[in-house]
Amino acid sequence: MHGGSLPWPACKLLEILLVLFYLGILDCRTLAKDTPEALVLGGNGLLGAGTVEKLLVRGYRVTAVNRGNWYWDSDIKIKPRVNHVTCNRLQPLKSCPGIDALSQSKFDVVVDFSAYHRFQIQDVFDLWQKRIGLYVYISSDSVFEVCNKSHGGYSRESDAVRPKNVLEREEYAKKDSYGHRKLLCEEELQLQNMKWGVPFVSLRLPDVIGPRDNTYRWWIYQLLIRLNSHLKSDIKLSKSLCTKPISLVHSEDVAEMISDICSQNPKRFANGKAYNLAFKENPSVLELLELMKSELNMPDVPVTCDTASGLQLYPSVTLGPVNTSQAQLDLNWNPTPLDEAVKELVNFYELASHNPEFKKEHDNVLSSAFFMDNQKAVSEAFSKVYRSLRDEL
Ligand SMILES: *[C@@H]1O[C@H](CO)[C@@H](O)[C@H](O)[C@H]1NC(C)=O
Ligand SMILES: *[C@@H]1O[C@H](CO)[C@@H](O)[C@H](O)[C@H]1NC(C)=O
Repeated sequence: MHGGSLPWPACKLLEILLVLFYLGILDCRTLAKDTPEALVLGGNGLLGAGTVEKLLVRGYRVTAVNRGNWYWDSDIKIKPRVNHVTCNRLQPLKSCPGIDALSQSKFDVVVDFSAYHRFQIQDVFDLWQKRIGLYVYISSDSVFEVCNKSHGGYSRESDAVRPKNVLEREEYAKKDSYGHRKLLCEEELQLQNMKWGVPFVSLRLPDVIGPRDNTYRWWIYQLLIRLNSHLKSDIKLSKSLCTKPISLVHSEDVAEMISDICSQNPKRFANGKAYNLAFKENPSVLELLELMKSELNMPDVPVTCDTASGLQLYPSVTLGPVNTSQAQLDLNWNPTPLDEAVKELVNFYELASHNPEFKKEHDNVLSSAFFMDNQKAVSEAFSKVYRSLRDEL
């Protein structure tokens, strides 16, 4: 070894390390082999379970706080891989057994799927204050329902402003209590941001579709088509559902987006940001059913539009689609094409309907309130169609 200058290979190595640092590929955390920590509030449902999986793949240690209902196969896919704390957030977070052990923790990210009341956000900051690197809040396009949107186009992030006049504000809030409370949560995050300086992102989602949906909405539409020849009733939609475009979003696109956001520099969101996320396509419910029918090879199933009322599972809002151009610009939001998602979901729910491991879900979907009028006929048709298929396999 020469004294003084470093030998050539060591120099080169140093140079490479510096470049990696500069490009942000290496940071102090990866060098120190520190495992990043994620606190996920929820994490067992349609969006949450998918997100937890992606965070695990990216090397996060995940603590999931939820009531302990493990939907579908999340008790196999998620539960054993996370630190689980059982908690119903309608009770004070502090009072949940197991939270104490976390009270000194620091979290690189908090991903909150389950805040529906402002106090639930306050509870999180009461415990961890500024020991949170980034807060990702799952909000809703329902926030626009309590705001004074002054144009007829797709809702933009900047439309989520409540009326100035207090009485009018309350009038709007009454129209949609869910939207009111989700916006209160966003407003609380802004206050906590000013107090503690924790960066945050609110993701305003329209109705979410995806595999393992515990609202069963997609599956119900699919069954109405699939079992149609065994049922006496047609599928009826109100007129507006046949013409009005809607926004939807794929759970897996959102999960991917969240894990992307978590790996970015939180300083980007230092003052708090809100983004709409949705498919680029905006079908009417009728068009969505047409896509399902064609994927099921059942183009002739009749759907009638001329009734005053009908089955409405989507959309949950009245103000129409959301504009996602901000997320495309800032976050490279690039969702799955709708027809691909339809293909994937139709296949998932066909397989799920055959699969005896999902017996609990079969019972749940068949006892859904939406089938109330013809529960017996639907159950019989379901057994007939899917059992006979199972026997063939
Ligand atoms: C979305 O908003 C952008 C920017 O405000 C606008 O240019 C675009 O036309 C809007 N797109 C739709 C579909 O409304
Ligand atoms: C709603 O917005 C419009 C246009 O910006 C404005 O003229 C109107 O006064 C607002 N109404 C309320 C209730 O704030």
